[in-house]
Amino acid sequence: MQSNPIAFNPFDVSCESDYRRWRETKLAVMDGGGVTRVIQVGDPAHLDEQEYTAILSACRSTNMAIYRTTGSCTVDKQSIRALGQRFGLERLDMNLRADEDSITSIRVVPAGESTHYIPYTNRAINWHTDGYYNTADEQVRGIVMHCVQPADSGGVNCLMDPEIVYLLLRDENPDWVKALMQPDAMTIPANVEAGKEIRPAHTGPVFSVEKATGCLHMRYTTRTRSIAWKDDVDLHKAVGFVRELLAGDSPWIVRHRLQAGEGIICNNVLHAREAFTDNRDAARLLYRARYHDRIKGTEMTAGTGEVENALVE
Ligand SMILES: [Fe+2]
Repeated sequence: MQSNPIAFNPFDVSCESDYRRWRETKLAVMDGGGVTRVIQVGDPAHLDEQEYTAILSACRSTNMAIYRTTGSCTVDKQSIRALGQRFGLERLDMNLRADEDSITSIRVVPAGESTHYIPYTNRAINWHTDGYYNTADEQVRGIVMHCVQPADSGGVNCLMDPEIVYLLLRDENPDWVKALMQPDAMTIPANVEAGKEIRPAHTGPVFSVEKATGCLHMRYTTRTRSIAWKDDVDLHKAVGFVRELLAGDSPWIVRHRLQAGEGIICNNVLHAREAFTDNRDAARLLYRARYHDRIKGTEMTAGTGEVENALVE
């Protein structure tokens, strides 16, 4: 079958047959829940073919993979860069708090520095996708997050594949999906610090389809302050559905406490973090790299994905 996003578009609400075919395959490859296995790798910077294939396969099925370093190598920011590059993640996102090399060290910072940004505290972070406040051209599509040092307690990461959220919403009410795809569905107000605008307001859809790949992209935050939803009945119902889903105990939610040497590579799936307590001598430290690229090989148009393979038969 010739594959391109025009010929096969399961995320177009008017394409019911494409949606049904995609849905059946998606549910089959997800096997009733989210990620269940951690993929062991010797050195994230130098994956062998088997390790690479295992990670890619997980990402094709669920848009995410969790790996565990088994070798004695040192994993530094260069390793994270190399791991991303192996999966076509090249264009790093510059964000306000990134280190000079655009890879962020996520840890608790002393009071007074960035402390109103929750990632740099030990507080819980509610559900979101990264970069929902970015422009349409600079959306975050891929993430690598590597744990150097876990917290003493807490700090569990919760993850959910946006394609499953889409599927559950569409099954419930296709009009809700349409509402979330409106280009003016969600507005994030400008970011103003000390009276100076450091990021303008951005308006955009929650769900969109990336033209080049035919893939679904999700912008989302559970926060209720500093966000303006379009005044639309279906939109409000849809947002309520998503909020309830993420707050519940859905089997589709992956909960994993990253250990030292473990990491996540994903297509910017929905995620949240529980609060944590640091060990006084060894504070929690994660490296995070965000990209404007999706993981290469997970495109609807790649011809190698699980969905594509199923449709070829
Ligand atoms: Fe995040």
